[in-house]
Amino acid sequence: MKRQILERIFDKVDTIPTFPKVAFQALELLKKEDVDFRELERVIKSDPGITANFLKIVNSPAFGLPQKIDSLFKAFMFLGLNQIKFIVVASVAKKYFSKDLIGYGLSVEDIWIHSLTCGIIAEEIAFDVGFPPQKIETVYIASILHDIGKIVLDLYTKLEIKEFQKIAKERMDWDFIQVEWLVLGVDHGLVGAHLLEKWEFPKYISFAVRAHHDSDLMLQSDIASIVALSNILTNTLGIGGGVDVFNYKVSENLLRNLNITGPEKIYKYLKSGLYKSLLIQREFV
Ligand SMILES: [Fe+2]
Ligand SMILES: [Fe+2]
Repeated sequence: MKRQILERIFDKVDTIPTFPKVAFQALELLKKEDVDFRELERVIKSDPGITANFLKIVNSPAFGLPQKIDSLFKAFMFLGLNQIKFIVVASVAKKYFSKDLIGYGLSVEDIWIHSLTCGIIAEEIAFDVGFPPQKIETVYIASILHDIGKIVLDLYTKLEIKEFQKIAKERMDWDFIQVEWLVLGVDHGLVGAHLLEKWEFPKYISFAVRAHHDSDLMLQSDIASIVALSNILTNTLGIGGGVDVFNYKVSENLLRNLNITGPEKIYKYLKSGLYKSLLIQREFV
């Protein structure tokens, strides 16, 4: 039975539309020393959905622009390169987070704000840890897409919702990941990683997604550690984590791995994550 579910889950991965080439092309252009913003505009404009998302996100108060922006080129003039990269990834991700995830108890706004907040906190941690800009880009991708596996698994968590609820009631100390394994034989990190591998993302990005709930794996790469920590902090803020939002705790190993000592930094990340997520919510909800 579980094997059948598993086969169907991985078949479903094949039905998810591939990550748009536009995003890869835009990120490639943004790697150049002298970014050609006209070319960047042309590339992004070739996808009207991504363009609309970009303009919506850029006009969120979270980016603090002095005026309403109605053209991509104008937006590029106001933004730093990292902000442009962040918004490119977010604009594409928005295409996938487009409906409620009922099995996870998440509305479309919940999962979207959760993903963006995770990206925002992850950027700050990556910056503090001293990541170079190129590596910060990978953090955006991994953190904004860390829960992408939920869009595949939602159908099955929804079908098995009674079983999930029964186990959750019996095992109050379990988190949702443990229940996913027991009922479905897989978790959303693993499914998300599989999806990203199919989309030909670099291994270190799919690994971070794979590892974001695995307390051992998350220690094996600094990108994975940041994504995992950022996800826990986003959940701690109660932002779009769904049914088990408060069940994830920060481990000392994780903090040690990122050289984070004392609670001050954690407060800083929580504070700015909360502030920016409220600004985003004002625009989107
Ligand atoms: Fe997750
Ligand atoms: Fe998450």
